[in-house]
Amino acid sequence: MIILGIETTCDETSAGIVKGGRRLLSNVVSSSAELHKKFGGIVPEVAAREQVKLIVPVIAEALLQARCELSDIDAVSVAHGPGLIGSLLVGVEAAKTLSTFLNKPLIAVNHLAGHVYANWIGHDFPSFPLVALIVSGGHTDLVLMTNHAKTKLLGQTRDDAAGEVFDKVARVLGLGYPGGPEIERMAAQFKTRKKQVAVILPRPMISENNFEFSFSGLKTAVVNLVTRDKFSESRFSEVAYEFQDAIVDVLVKKTIRAAIIYKSKSIVVGGGVAANSELRFRVSEAGQKNNISVFFPTKDLSVDNGAMIATAAFFEKNFVDPLKLQSNPSLHF
Ligand code: KG4
Ligand code: ZN
Repeated sequence: MIILGIETTCDETSAGIVKGGRRLLSNVVSSSAELHKKFGGIVPEVAAREQVKLIVPVIAEALLQARCELSDIDAVSVAHGPGLIGSLLVGVEAAKTLSTFLNKPLIAVNHLAGHVYANWIGHDFPSFPLVALIVSGGHTDLVLMTNHAKTKLLGQTRDDAAGEVFDKVARVLGLGYPGGPEIERMAAQFKTRKKQVAVILPRPMISENNFEFSFSGLKTAVVNLVTRDKFSESRFSEVAYEFQDAIVDVLVKKTIRAAIIYKSKSIVVGGGVAANSELRFRVSEAGQKNNISVFFPTKDLSVDNGAMIATAAFFEKNFVDPLKLQSNPSLHF
């Protein structure tokens, strides 16, 4: 079964084509991130307008790269939420139109499930039961999956999402958008200089006996260092290092605890923050110690993309009526 996956939940316009849920035929991603840089965050109106411009060329390019005709597509899938309403509408309407025009089934996918299923693309794949950590710009969720049809939300963030704090802290440190890769680069600079960390930031809720997160206090602690304590720019790489270490400490500890308690065979991580090398290293290391297989998508497939939507569609098969599907900005697990 060849599935076209459409992803337009935020500032990426993407179309991916996947065969049999695992074989990647193409994955075209176009981002409007450059346009948002000067604002230090996403401007929803700008993102939506770019989606309109890009959706048709992106789908056409995905077909070209996969060497497929529209008639080769067996089903159309789309992320119908969560996300920005203006952006979502573009992908959802495009998918409904294609499905109706081609007379092919339409499959609705939760964007967050897409991040989890990015881990099925390629050679190895996770075994159930598994614990999934989804860390993106808008979400930080720990989910238990017993099989493809059975998922349970174990906990989520009470305030800011992990990616959101990476972006906000980057802004405070005078770095660009998106902040995650910028913080990672700055933290790596500090590490190579092999200096001692003198600043200590909080690890919120790390010892609490639950699967919830809270990152706004960590963000405020960084803001205080820069604005109240007047840290000089020469110490910003140290702050970036300690900030990344703090957030990774919390994510690793809670994920491993959940995996042990629920006797998971695998841990899967997804979402933009899953591209972070420190997080990748530390979760893998902790998984190895506890005999739990750890899966990360490739860095390309960690951030928003259409291929993950096509893969999730293959395994979940949530067929919907193209005349009835609606965008749902606040969809959750
Ligand atoms: O999943 P995603 O592409 O979009 C949403 O669904 O939100 O995630 C975007 C988030 C941004 O907050 C970005 O700063 C973060 O992922 N991110 C990273 C890295 N690459 C992207 N965070 C930490 N380290 C990275 N290398
Ligand atoms: Zn995402």
